[in-house]
Amino acid sequence: MKKNIKVFAPATISNVGCGFDTIGFAIDEPGDIVSLKLRTDGKVRITTITGDKGVLPTDIKKNTATVAILELLKSYKDKSIGVDVEIRKKMPIGSGLGSSAASSVAAVYGMNILLDNYFSEKDILDFAIKGESIASGAIHADNVAPSLMGGFVLIREYNPLEIIKLPVPKNLYCTVIYPHIVIETKKARKLIKKQIPIVSARKHFGNIGSLVSALYEEDIDLLGRTIHDEISEPARAKLIPNFFDIKKAALDTGAYGCSISGSGPSIFAFSKSKSVAVRIGKAMQEVTTKNGIKSNIYISKINKVGPRVIK
Ligand code: HSE
Repeated sequence: MKKNIKVFAPATISNVGCGFDTIGFAIDEPGDIVSLKLRTDGKVRITTITGDKGVLPTDIKKNTATVAILELLKSYKDKSIGVDVEIRKKMPIGSGLGSSAASSVAAVYGMNILLDNYFSEKDILDFAIKGESIASGAIHADNVAPSLMGGFVLIREYNPLEIIKLPVPKNLYCTVIYPHIVIETKKARKLIKKQIPIVSARKHFGNIGSLVSALYEEDIDLLGRTIHDEISEPARAKLIPNFFDIKKAALDTGAYGCSISGSGPSIFAFSKSKSVAVRIGKAMQEVTTKNGIKSNIYISKINKVGPRVIK
């Protein structure tokens, strides 16, 4: 049995405009790295956390990575198994890029390899979702599932969980701007209205169906038209300074759709080539810079594989 492992799990864009809590996809970068070292005394410890500017909890019952591991170990036969966990945050926290999901996915994915793949992918998903829920205050799988499975995923049902993997069009690029402000998912979720008008629901039904078709047909023009949000964006745009100017800059530069990533503040935009994706990033960043807000740009294709073991 292998005793040590280091795993990278990717960042994710959830909601994707029309799919609040139901659609997400993984990007190649950024992501998180979790290293694990098995113990034989049943103890779970966080040995190091780097890259978090001291904000992540070191209490194993509060950290998403170890909560997920504790869930996994509850279901494991050998109670003498424990683990030392090192978390290297390689992505911003509270950014809307699924940071807590990436850590919990990397942790349980790695743990399962150390346990000779004792658990199924579905089990691993359940453990990671429980880990992530500590940070977001709710059960939602639209970051965890794409981080674990790669590509685009659709969550058809939560109870019981039913996840459908969708195809990834060739030549689909994603530009992400992360303005340097923090939005806590827990707080951002409280802004979402409990009910939506039937006219809004109708738009969402049409767009979700069309998004799925666009992915199958590799129709990026149609995909762009489906990126429309009457649930999360109207409620959360006010949390992101100059959101509508950033979105306009992306669309004016040729983006096929642009919206908030998860609960924000990151904003994503699709394009068909790397050069356009780069131009979109520059245009978005010009807006934030002009308004005195620092930001990072990530340009990425869609990550099709999910987590990977690294040396
Ligand atoms: N779907 C979730 C939300 C994702 O929008 O609250 C949080 O990153």
